[in-house]
Formats: sequence, C-alpha cells, structure tokens
Amino acid sequence: MRTAVGIVGAGPAGLMLSHLLHRRGIESVVVESRSRESIEATIRAGVLEQGTVDLMVETGIGERLRREGFVHHGTELRFGGRGHRINFYELTGGRVVTVYAQHEVLKDLIQARLNDGGRILFEHRATAIEDATGERPAIRLTGPDGRPETLECDFVAGCDGFHGIGRATIPEAARREYLRVYPFGWFGILAKAPPSSDELIYARHERGFALISTRSPEVQRMYFQCDPSDSVENWSDDRIWEELQARTEGQGFRLREGAIFQKGIVPMRSFVCETMRHGRLFLAGDAAHIVPPTGAKGLNLAVNDVFLLARAIGSHYATGSPELLDGYPAAALRRIWRAQHFSWWMTSMLHRFADASEFDDRRQLAELELITTSLPAATVLAQNYVGMPLG
Ligand code: FAD
Ligand code: DHB
Repeated sequence: MRTAVGIVGAGPAGLMLSHLLHRRGIESVVVESRSRESIEATIRAGVLEQGTVDLMVETGIGERLRREGFVHHGTELRFGGRGHRINFYELTGGRVVTVYAQHEVLKDLIQARLNDGGRILFEHRATAIEDATGERPAIRLTGPDGRPETLECDFVAGCDGFHGIGRATIPEAARREYLRVYPFGWFGILAKAPPSSDELIYARHERGFALISTRSPEVQRMYFQCDPSDSVENWSDDRIWEELQARTEGQGFRLREGAIFQKGIVPMRSFVCETMRHGRLFLAGDAAHIVPPTGAKGLNLAVNDVFLLARAIGSHYATGSPELLDGYPAAALRRIWRAQHFSWWMTSMLHRFADASEFDDRRQLAELELITTSLPAATVLAQNYVGMPLG
C-alpha cells in the first residue's frame, strides 16, 4: 500500500488531520488498532474551545455539533460554600465554549472521512515506523487476521496517543521529555439525571476537587479528585453521591442524583516531548503532550497541532517549501506550553494536596478570591479557557 500521509491513530488528532488534508486535496490512510465501535463508545473529554468549534463548522463537520452541542457563556468556580461566576462571553469579547463529547466529535469525523472516500484501517495495529529520516518512510502494520502489511508514505503522522509507537520512534538522544505526575486522579461518572446547573461547576473543597459537567438533558458527567490507585469497586453509587454533594455544598445547592452507569479513574500528569519531528515523522496530540484535564485542553490541543501540521504539509505539496514543516514543532509548542501552564495552574488552584499546610490552604483561597473579584485576573482565566484562535 502507498499513500501521501500515513497516520497512526484514529483519535481526534489523526482523524482531524486526515479530514484537513483531504480538504487540501492530499491523500492519507489512517491506521487504528481499535474497532470503530470501541472508538465511538469511549468516554473522554467534553469541552470544545471556540477555535475547535469554528474549525469543525468551517470544514463542514459542525452540523450535529451546532444542533446538539451546548454553548456555555461562562462557568462557576465554587469555594468556601459559594458559587462565583466567570463570564467568558463578556470577558473575551464574545468567545464561548461548547460542551460536546469527544466520541461525538469522533463519530462526526469518521462519518465525514468515509463519505469523502477516506481510508481508515480499523483493527490494524502499527508495529513499527521505518526510515523516518529517509525519503520513503513506511508503517509496518498487522491486520485483524494477523497478516503483516506495509504502508509506504511521503510523511508519517504519529497521532497514536501517549502509549503509541510514534514518540518511541524518535531516538532518545533526539528528544527531551518533561513530566510532572500529580498525587491524585479523577474519578469520572456518567449518570442518568437532569442537569444540576446551567453551566459547569469547578469546585474547590476541603475534601477535594469536584467538577459538574453535562452531556444532555438526561445524562450528566461529573468528576471528583481521588487517589489514583483507588478502584471503582470501592465506590458504591451512594458513596459517590455523598462525596459529590459534600464537595459542592453551600447556599442550599443540591446535585440532582440518578442512576450511575459509567465509572472510571484517570491519572493526572503534565507531559511534553520536544521535539515533535524526526525527519518525515511528525507527532501530534497526546503522542507529544498530556495535560491534566482541569483546563479541558487535551482534545483542543490535539486539534491545534493538526491544524498547523495540515497547513505545513499542504504548503510542502503546494510550493515545495520546507519552511512550515521545519517550523511545525516550534509553532505547536508555543500553544502547548501555554496550555501546560494553564492546566497546571487550574489544577493547583482547585485540588487538595495531601501535604498542603494551612498556609497553602489560605493562599489557594486567596487566589480564588482574586480570580473571582478582579476583572483582569478573571479575564486571564476566561481567555485561556475559551482558547485563542487556532494557530
Ligand atoms: P487519542 O485520543 O489517545 O488517540 C490515539 C489513537 O491511537 C487511539 O485510538 C489508539 O487506539 C490509537 N493507537 C495507539 N497506538 C496505536 C498503534 N500502535 N497502532 C494503531 N493505532 C494506535 N481531556 C480533557 O480535556 N478532559 C477529559 O475529561 C479527559 N478525559 C480523558 C480520559 C481518558 C481515559 C483519557 C485517556 C484521556 C482524557 N482526556 C481528557 C484527554 C483527551 O481525551 C485527549 O487529549 C485526546 O483524546 C487526544 O487525542 P489524540 O488523538 O492525540 O489521542
Ligand atoms: C469535562 C472534562 C474536563 O476535563 C473539563 O475540564 C470540563 C468538562 C467533561 O468531560 O465534560
């Protein structure tokens, strides 16, 4: 098999890259180890920045998003038993976020690729990327029947997430990795219940952080800070509701409860790999960076990476100039480090650290007071949360 761009991974990064390349008339093949059903059913992120939404709408995959997504003009920070609203719309000159689940984005992207004649090889595992620094790189893969195949390409995009083979293909001596592991995780649930709030609630409480989000008028998404080594079996529905109620208490607020039908624990880390390029291999999305989910940046960063990468590959084919390809890592890393700082900041401000002193507690509250009473401070949070235009 041969194609222009061989893409490993059908997550948001890989599928959006394939879609954007198609719009530039560039052929690609996506290699994905999981099945379509499994990808379309995996519950992950839920908040889309304005720039992500604009890109989806502008490139013809925003119809369902516009119909079914929930536009949020602000969010609530809850601490000291009180809610404080941050008005994104007013603080950013009209920018907002849209709540629309990651797997819904993936469904829309997969459908669009298939409608456009795109090739996605589901249940094909990439086992090696060869000749990344040569003229003709190749992806070795194994299909569902176990037969080895080869995909030859002009370029390879490693969009294969944190545990993929893309990053590992770059020799250790050629990359530098930055890692911070947090001493807590997030316990996430989906519950059949009506919304408890019109907007997301980010709550800081002595018992730990909690986040109230939504999926639809019938299904709610909520998270609370937990021990990363804890197990979902330790948490009955009653215990989960008690914890979430306690962490969001105050001013008579009560979460509306319902049957919990999904539970999971995610670890929290900040990670960046520099560089994001090795010859004709380019990394994008979680393959190159991870953020703790508090800033809702993971999916949005992946989209920004491939927006830049599609433009750079497009420029190579259109003009023969290597300039944008050469500049890709630096251009992507500027936004990645901005998001790294924001995600670390939101995480530090809202979570309970086991070794926090009383001084640390007071300082955390003082910071939240500042963000919710000072217009310039609130603006910094709002601008970062809704995100700058792509690029
Ligand atoms: P991924 O979505 O990880 O996609 C990579 C794809 O590559 C996968 O489909 C994988 O199967 C495939 N793959 C890997 N190796 C191979 C191989 N060798 N061959 C073929 N295919 C391969 N972010 C938030 O902002 N908020 C959240 O609440 C949130 N929750 C999350 C929960 C979980 C459990 C995880 C893992 C992530 C979460 N994130 C969250 C982060 C967000 O979902 C990611 O940032 C986003 O998915 C990144 O997209 P991606 O395309 O780079 O990588
Ligand atoms: C959701 C996830 C996040 O990480 C976040 O910061 C806000 C919302 C969600 O899944 O809805």
